[in-house]
Amino acid sequence: MRVLAIETSCDETAAAVVRDGRTVEGNSVASQIEIHQPFGGVVPEVASRAHVSAMAPVIKEAMAQAEIGWEQLDLVAATMGPGLAGSLLIGLNTAKGLAYGRGLPLLGVNHLVGHIYANWILDDSEDEEPEFPLLCLVVSGGHSDLVLMRGHDDLVRIGRTLDDAAGEAFDKVARILGLGFPGGPIMQKTAAEGDASRYPLPRAWLKGTYDFSFSGLKTATLHLVQRFPQGQVPVPDIAASFQEAVADVLSAKTAQAAEEFGARQVAVAGGVSANRRLREMVQSRSPVPVRMPPLHYCTDNAAMIGSAAYYRWMSGARTELDVDVQPNLPVA
Ligand code: KG4
Ligand code: ZN
Repeated sequence: MRVLAIETSCDETAAAVVRDGRTVEGNSVASQIEIHQPFGGVVPEVASRAHVSAMAPVIKEAMAQAEIGWEQLDLVAATMGPGLAGSLLIGLNTAKGLAYGRGLPLLGVNHLVGHIYANWILDDSEDEEPEFPLLCLVVSGGHSDLVLMRGHDDLVRIGRTLDDAAGEAFDKVARILGLGFPGGPIMQKTAAEGDASRYPLPRAWLKGTYDFSFSGLKTATLHLVQRFPQGQVPVPDIAASFQEAVADVLSAKTAQAAEEFGARQVAVAGGVSANRRLREMVQSRSPVPVRMPPLHYCTDNAAMIGSAAYYRWMSGARTELDVDVQPNLPVA
């Protein structure tokens, strides 16, 4: 079964051709980073317009890489939420048009579930499918969720963030430190030159729950920065101490949940799962084997949507042509 998948939930316009949920035949991502950089963050209206102009070229590119024509597609899938409404609309409506025009079925896909399925995509290192029960840490720019997955159609959210998402905290602290946008990758790079034990920053353990909170850590980091005269802020040490605090909480709670729920494997997903320190800490603390997507499938892409679409379709999920975007759709 061959899926054409479209992803436009935030600031990447992406399309992919995925066969049988695991083999990526074509994958194209047009990033809007440079467009939003002068604003220090994603501007929704600007994002929607950029999706409109990038959409057709990105689809053509994915189809060309896959060396297929329309008649070789079996399903059109697109992210239906969560995300920016105006951005989601471009991708979902494009998918509707293609499905209607070609007489193909359409499937709306949950973006966060898509992130989890990045762990199903075949790459050089691992060819076994992830095993259920799978404990998933989904950490992106807008979400930080712990999800227990007992099967392709059995997902339960066991924890979430009460305030900022992990990626959002990385982005905000990067701004406080004057590192620019997007914050995650530059924070990781800067932290590599710093001492993570220099400034012990607070961790919100929220004991007895699998929920997260990062706004106190963000504020504590701001107050720490304000203690130094301008130009004398120890930026690498603060970046490293912040990254350590985030990775510590995320990895400890993931490991604990895997233990409590008897998970056979742990999977990390979402943009923040590209973070090297987080990957190391989850790996070293997890009581069971850990699945991690290759870096280019951690951040937003359409291949993960194509993979999720295949497994959702196979377990009976269907959406009609009048399906609408759901900007606040939870992971489960
Ligand atoms: O999943 P994603 O690409 O988009 C959303 O669905 O939100 O995640 C983007 C988030 C941003 O907040 C970005 O700063 C963060 O992931 N991120 C990272 C790293 N790479 C991306 N955070 C920490 N370390 C990284 N290496
Ligand atoms: Zn995402």
